Amino acid sequence: MIKMSEYAKRRKELMRTIGQNGIVILPSAPEVFRNGDATYAYRQNSDFYYLTGFEEPDAVLVLAPKRKEGEYILFNRIRDRDREIWDGPRAGQEGAVKEYLADQAFPYSELALMLPDLMAGRESIHYPLGVNREFDKLLMQCVNKVRSKVRGGLQPPAAFVDIAPSLHEMRLFKSAAEIEIMQKAVDITEKAHVRAMRFCRPGVYEYELEAELLYEFQRNGARFPAYNSIVGAGRNSCILHYINNNQKIADGDLVLIDAGAEYQNYAADITRTFPANGRFTGEQRAIYDLVLSSQLAAIKSIKPGASWTTAQNIIVKILTQGLVDLGILKGNVDNLIERQAYLPFYMHRSGHWLGLDVHDVGMYRVETKWRALQPGMVFTVEPGIYISSDIPGVHKRWHHIGVRIEDNVLVTDKGRDVLSHKIPKTVVEIEAVMAK
Ligand code: GLY
Ligand code: MN
Ligand code: MN
Repeated sequence: MIKMSEYAKRRKELMRTIGQNGIVILPSAPEVFRNGDATYAYRQNSDFYYLTGFEEPDAVLVLAPKRKEGEYILFNRIRDRDREIWDGPRAGQEGAVKEYLADQAFPYSELALMLPDLMAGRESIHYPLGVNREFDKLLMQCVNKVRSKVRGGLQPPAAFVDIAPSLHEMRLFKSAAEIEIMQKAVDITEKAHVRAMRFCRPGVYEYELEAELLYEFQRNGARFPAYNSIVGAGRNSCILHYINNNQKIADGDLVLIDAGAEYQNYAADITRTFPANGRFTGEQRAIYDLVLSSQLAAIKSIKPGASWTTAQNIIVKILTQGLVDLGILKGNVDNLIERQAYLPFYMHRSGHWLGLDVHDVGMYRVETKWRALQPGMVFTVEPGIYISSDIPGVHKRWHHIGVRIEDNVLVTDKGRDVLSHKIPKTVVEIEAVMAK
């Protein structure tokens, strides 16, 4: 659990960044209806959660630096005995102050009424620009209200500033408490992947493996996956975001599982690939070991100061060389890299930031240059080779071999920590787990 004092520290830091003449206004995620009165499971907006730890809908955070009556104002739902009988307890305004450390809390219904006064005299409004149409409209109306009172001496804000760059730069660097939670998400994910490997045999359906994953997530306190689980067997292993998961798994198939638990709103994102019958064929093993060697080399390059793109360059080089060695690509390796001949087989990048969002926020480039890695960043390393049968000129013995290997890595002072290092990964480890 992240302590309430850590959220308070983040709010202070954000206020320091925007300066004392600004104001931050950030809405919670809306509750989304599936049909009738049935809702999708509620998931708080990651930015809002990062600053509040508050998990109810219909809430708005306001940060007004140096405001006399308090800097942190939360608008949230009122207590409502009837609704609480149906939907469960709410924090209410008292809880917002006592448990969530708001300086002041007001009913959500008073937001439109109170915002103009909170904005008056502030130079700039910092909020997620253009994300929520209703909210954009509300803020414009509030600004106009302040403008209409200029003769009374009120000063309207002169600028809307997107909050994303400053807030997302903070989110990119994980605290010790966040890393502990992410490790837990990874550890739960480890159990799920191992369980699915052990369960797998020819003749079961992809969704049966998905059920094993979800069972392990949920019984360990991760109610939901961090994204739709990908369970692709045979030709489906070559579809990057395959989520239908409805085909029967055949003897001789490779199975690619890309699945991660979401624990206390933090994501794990792990891929493992294994043979349905527990033994890799010669071709499957050749491709698997090639992807693995590129992943291990990429991981080894991770350390403070290394460029974000180093991992990708290493992966491209090793995969291209390997495809040439296997006779799948023909030509000079440097020329093949130059003309991106690997793209039909490896068409994505080496990974992405990981955190509250599975594809987490944060810039990959600073001005024109790829970013240098720094301690506290967490990201995935996930090379793959996907040989679908429609790539021309590839012998059919390679067809339907799709392999991705994805781990979650933290940059440390000295180098790196692979949070998911315990999940079986070598051919020997995977075959041993599946033999049990
Ligand atoms: N699970 C999506 C990805 O690996 O990026
Ligand atoms: Mn993934
Ligand atoms: Mn990923």
